[in-house]
Order: sequence, then structure tokens, then C-alpha cells
Amino acid sequence: MNQQPKQQPHKIIFDTDPGVDDAMAFFFADAHPQLQIVGITTIFGNVAVEQSTANTLRLVDIAGGDYPVAAGLGKALAGEPRPYPHWVHGKDGFGDINWPASNRSPDQRPAVDFIIETLKASPGEITLVPVGPLTNIAAALARAPEIAELVREVSIMGGAINCPGNVTPLAEANVANDPEAADAVLGAGWKASLIGLDVTMKAVISSQDIARITGSGSEKAKFLAAAAAPYIDFYRNNAGVDGCCMHDVCALARLVAPEIFTMEEAAIRVACEGFSRGKSAAMPPGHPAADESWQSRPVQSYARAIDNTAMLELFIETLSGQTQP
Ligand code: RIB
Ligand code: CA
Repeated sequence: MNQQPKQQPHKIIFDTDPGVDDAMAFFFADAHPQLQIVGITTIFGNVAVEQSTANTLRLVDIAGGDYPVAAGLGKALAGEPRPYPHWVHGKDGFGDINWPASNRSPDQRPAVDFIIETLKASPGEITLVPVGPLTNIAAALARAPEIAELVREVSIMGGAINCPGNVTPLAEANVANDPEAADAVLGAGWKASLIGLDVTMKAVISSQDIARITGSGSEKAKFLAAAAAPYIDFYRNNAGVDGCCMHDVCALARLVAPEIFTMEEAAIRVACEGFSRGKSAAMPPGHPAADESWQSRPVQSYARAIDNTAMLELFIETLSGQTQP
């Protein structure tokens, strides 16, 4: 894997709805030397926000970190709520393995306040990494539009540009859970990258690969082996994949190993009406046929392709503590 010049480490706010692949992403962020978790904000999505907050506190315990965890919003900006996908992540979000609850308490501040205050305190330094519905991010933007000038960048797991969705034939789960929020986030003046199913469905880790990581026998290893098993069963039985998809890890990997991804610049919009509700669509900059509603959109980027072998290697090396600073 050719190494690019190292960028400045990314200080991140990780916005998450754990979720098994969220847990993988959290452990990746906790372990990678080029990522520094400034705080974690929780959101509904794979489970109710109360459960995603309790799960995040569990993850902080397992990792032995001491990150602030701020509880987020429990429902979308608009529209009918979607069912929690217990058939993918289990009723408790971690494969129903009944992992012991944490004794930690969340931060006093709600997630939206935490995001705004943290960005204002460190202008230009923080990268937002939302890997669930974009409700917290959109709510922070609505309350304090100036944050669009205060972030370093936004790296989003979500969307399906040139591939089918996973909750409808057109829509990916995070975007479908709050299309209005996703359209607002992708229409803001910050630098946003959409890492969607186009690449994350190819970011597969097999049970054998997870076993290699779990070989260290740590708490993290035991948790991953237990929580990932039912998640792998879902992908084996429903997507013909011998393993599971590291959807959320990809939004972090793009920050530390951009060479793994092929990115395309585009204006990106999200349909909010009718049967295409939740569909994310991209138009190359300056497309002559586009009407004003497209021409006026900021140019963002989305991931078109991935070196999935390099992605797997990066994840295993990082969780095995072999990534060089
Ligand atoms: O579509 C995949 C996304 O939805 C991932 O973030 C997964 O954790 C779920 O939130
Ligand atoms: Ca997620």
C-alpha cells in the first residue's frame, strides 16, 4: 500500500448509533495514532438513543479510554420513524450478548450543545465523523450555522450513489433514517465526504480475520468475537457475504489512509419525498443540464471505489496495535 505524506492527526467528534460496525469503528479510532477522539455523541438509528448511549459507555469501558459521551437526539427532524434493525445488530445493538452495563455517566451537555461548544472552542481543528443518522449534525448546523466555517471537515458514513440501498432499493439506512438532515448536512458550506454503500459493502471482514484480531485475548477482542458473530450471520444469510461489512470504519479510514479510496467531486442531494425518500444522488460539478436547484449546491465528494484488501489490512493492523504513528 503506497504511503502518502502523513497529514496532521485528526481530532474527531465521533457521532454514532452503536451498532456492531460502530463498535469496530470506535475501536479503530481509539487505536489509530492519527486519530484523537475529542468526544463521542450518540444518536438513534440501529437502536434507540438511550441504548446507543448505554452502548457507547460500554465501549469506552472496554477500550479503557475516558472520552466524554454526550447523549443525542432520539428521532429524525421530520417524517415517520423507521424500525430499529434488531435483525441486523440485535435488540441491544450488540448482538444481544448482554455485555455488562457501564457505571459511567454521560456528559451533562446534550450532543448538539457539545458539538457546537467543542467546535467553537477549537476553530478549524475538529473533524466530525457521523456514522448514524445525521440528525445531531443538522440540528447543530440549524442552531449555529457558523459551525460550517469552524470544522476541519466532515467524513460521513452514509448514502448509496451508484448502488442499491440497504433499507429500500434506493436508500441507505443512515440517510433514510433522516433524509432532511442528510440533505441539509450535504448542502452546507463545509467540506463533506460521503462514504456510502458503493464502497462499504466491499469492506468485508471475515470471521477468520476477526479471530486473528481476537487472538490477543483482550476485553476488546472478546467483545468483538461475541458481538460480531450474529452480525456476520446476518450478512452471510442475507447478502451472500462471508463475513460482515465494516461500514463505519470506512468513514475513519478515509481520514488516515485516503489512498485506499477513489473520491469523486459532486453536488449531492437527498430525496425527501415519495418512494425515493432517502435516495442520495450526485451530479458532477458544472453539469450543463442541471437546473438551478442543483447548480446552487456546494461541491462535496463521495467515495466511488475502495481498495478493500488495503482496507482490511489497515483495520487488522490497527486493532492489533501494529499501525505506525
Ligand atoms: O447502512 C449502514 C449504516 O447503518 C451503518 O452506519 C450501520 O451502523 C447503520 O447505522
Ligand atoms: Ca452506524
